Amino acid sequence: METADYQLTPEEIQSLEEKYLFPTYKRSALFCSHGSGVYLYDLSGKRYLDFLAGISVNSLGYNHPRLARILVEQGQRLIHSSNLFYNPFQGLLAKRLIDISGMSKAFFTNSGTEAIEASLKIARAYGHAKNRNDKSLILTLKNSFHGRTLGALSITSQEQYQAPFRPLIPDIEIVEEFTPAALEKAFSDRVCALVLEPVQGEGGIVPLPLEFMRAARELCDRYDALFIADEIQCGMGRTGKYFAFEHYGVKPDVITLAKSLAAGYPLGAMLGNARVAESLKPGDHGTTFGGGPLACRLALEVLDVIEQDGLVAKTEDLGAYLVKGLRGLSSRHRLIGEIRGMGLMIGIQIGSQAKDVVNRLLNKGIITNAAHETVLRLLPPFIISRENIDTFLNTLDDVLGEVEFAAEGNQTS
Ligand SMILES: Cc1ncc(COP(=O)(O)O)c(C=O)c1O
Repeated sequence: METADYQLTPEEIQSLEEKYLFPTYKRSALFCSHGSGVYLYDLSGKRYLDFLAGISVNSLGYNHPRLARILVEQGQRLIHSSNLFYNPFQGLLAKRLIDISGMSKAFFTNSGTEAIEASLKIARAYGHAKNRNDKSLILTLKNSFHGRTLGALSITSQEQYQAPFRPLIPDIEIVEEFTPAALEKAFSDRVCALVLEPVQGEGGIVPLPLEFMRAARELCDRYDALFIADEIQCGMGRTGKYFAFEHYGVKPDVITLAKSLAAGYPLGAMLGNARVAESLKPGDHGTTFGGGPLACRLALEVLDVIEQDGLVAKTEDLGAYLVKGLRGLSSRHRLIGEIRGMGLMIGIQIGSQAKDVVNRLLNKGIITNAAHETVLRLLPPFIISRENIDTFLNTLDDVLGEVEFAAEGNQTS
């Protein structure tokens, strides 16, 4: 394997980015070269055990041989054809997703934020179809994250993301508490949709309470509003079921997907049930790239692998093993607060030292991330083994010991 891609040194890569890129990202000093299975390698050949999967994307790990084969095969056949014409894989993938979700129709995008944009448009179209111009209010939750384009940002209720870009799109209201009473107070006939992540991701891995999800379904029915479940981070098998909403025994009207849908190749989707099947007419929405033959064929292969290797059940089992190990560590480490999540979507409340923990884990060859600044977020690939989890737990044990020791030293000095 040629490690020095384009023969650039880390310093050269960094200085090119500093000079030519908008400084939107705060990158860690990991210069990626290649990946294999659960490992990512940097340019020096150092190996990193991945507990983040490219932020919930690489569910099958790096360079899965079946995906690599499709990339080559379909890459030699047809990469892009546009939505002016038919390709064989878009309808097949729509059918597969509809079969596993119980929805009726699909629309494909390139990213999560675009899937959300499509869902916002369908929400407004649904409201207008009731012949009521004022049925346009969209409810969103505190701490939510739905993307960075202006519509998605308008329902992302986190001040630091929104503040520089106001005014945002109108007629959005934030529900501040995850209680049925707070939700009921926010509802009226003006509401056309409620958007929520069944397990909030960027907000710090927060599974919504059962009674809240049930109330959400009931209120959407009572006020004829759409229940939109953003499954972009928590969906496609990560939580031990194909969709996180399945844990709650409720069904949304619209589902948004992306991230692990094609397990590393950009693809998003909005699925809608019979209630919204007629809400978008020809010409109402569109995209140049969304649902291209390569992306859709990859996603079909991802679904095959998930099914054939029984990966949804595995995420549940491995998640339970990981949480058990974390609970074991929590008795020894005061830094470990609440442990939350489902399947292989786990958050550990650490507090202000979460970033320090992430950096130290990275130095020791383990990739994680801090969500909401204070939560250690774990989103490992579904192909992780129990041995990989043991390695992670032992390393976390060491790192927490170091951070706690350093904090005690600071207090006594
Ligand atoms: C729940 C959720 N929705 C939407 C998005 C936006 O997806 P993308 O970054 O692909 O635009 C994200 C990304 O982190 C997400 O976690």
